Amino acid sequence: RLPLIIAIDGPAAAGKGTLARRLAESLGLPYLDTGLLYRAVGRRMLDAGLDPATDAAEDQARRITLADLERDDLRVPAVDRAASLVASQQAVRTILVDTQRNFARAGGGVLDGRDIGTVIFPDAPVKLFITASPTARARRRWEQMAADLDAPDRAAQIARVAAELAARDAADAGRAVAPLRAAPDAVLIDTDAMTADEVLAEALRIVRSRT
Ligand code: C5P
Repeated sequence: RLPLIIAIDGPAAAGKGTLARRLAESLGLPYLDTGLLYRAVGRRMLDAGLDPATDAAEDQARRITLADLERDDLRVPAVDRAASLVASQQAVRTILVDTQRNFARAGGGVLDGRDIGTVIFPDAPVKLFITASPTARARRRWEQMAADLDAPDRAAQIARVAAELAARDAADAGRAVAPLRAAPDAVLIDTDAMTADEVLAEALRIVRSRT
């Protein structure tokens, strides 16, 4: 029997990470947040004083190890942008394909990203595409980041996050290589009106029906 691979894709802050982590835990599968790979490359570019849009990113991608993914400075706005810029480069993506496939080779896994169901594991038996409205995604991302949930300029802060998410999604969906896209055989889950528990329950139902 093949090790089970579950591919989870979708735009930024739709709830992929939360679902993927909980699904992996429930099913006893390894979990890989593939966005961390691109974030780690973006981080290395910024640290080296290099422009993330240049092809020096290929060289930095070769140096990535799983230890790079443990860094605690990968989820800052500058790295959001740098990750998206290095991720648009075919050479960078090619280098990271093996890392992702090898991760799940022996014991299967849950992987979340943008191209898991379309490029990395096109034969995965379970593919989920997680979406939520731009407003819901911006509010959730802001709640994760905000130091002060009662900030007087709360609305303006959320609007800023919404603009950043929209720009990154447009770049990720509009790029020539491995654009953000639902695989034809992916099941769509819109998480707008759902709690994290409900999303997990729905995903587990889909896994059972497909395995
Ligand atoms: O998922 P996360 O927001 O951490 O990903 C950061 C960036 O990495 C995304 O905006 C996207 O450009 C890139 N990415 C990708 N393919 C993946 C995962 C992430 O291109 N499988």
